[in-house]
Amino acid sequence: MIYDIKTYGNSCLREKAERVEKIDVEVLQILDNMVETMQKIKGVGLAAPQVGINKRMFVIDVGDNKIRKVINPEILELSDEIEINEEGCLSIPGVFKSVKRASRVKIKYLNEKGEEIIEEAEEFLARAFQHEYDHLEGVLFVDRLSPVAKRMVSKKLQLLKKEVERG
Ligand code: NI
Repeated sequence: MIYDIKTYGNSCLREKAERVEKIDVEVLQILDNMVETMQKIKGVGLAAPQVGINKRMFVIDVGDNKIRKVINPEILELSDEIEINEEGCLSIPGVFKSVKRASRVKIKYLNEKGEEIIEEAEEFLARAFQHEYDHLEGVLFVDRLSPVAKRMVSKKLQLLKKEVERG
């Protein structure tokens, strides 16, 4: 099943998502649907709040032949070293801006089998983990822009918001 993507202005993108208490059939089905949705629209990551599901889960496909299904992630370490690179978000179509992120991240999560995974990631994967994790906290990449860049995208964000309000 392909989900509709909730875009900027939807309140579901601003809530703190809830922990997954049990990896049951329903959770597995949601994860499968999220992967299907991400692949259909050629995204590299998709978090549950982006499809209106208030759970701490996301999926990532950065093209390393490994589709990650991430449940209840915790960021254990962020490097002091920073990298600046362009980001976009399926929930904010048409907006691409440079964002500062830690260049390396250590993250702990459960996979779809309920196994605890600890991963140390860098570069693009590190960025994807941080971006998707933010979604679970109700944070969007545009929140992390410099004041100047924020001003540059504010009009586009207003338009997206209006579309949501119109329904
Ligand atoms: Ni996003």
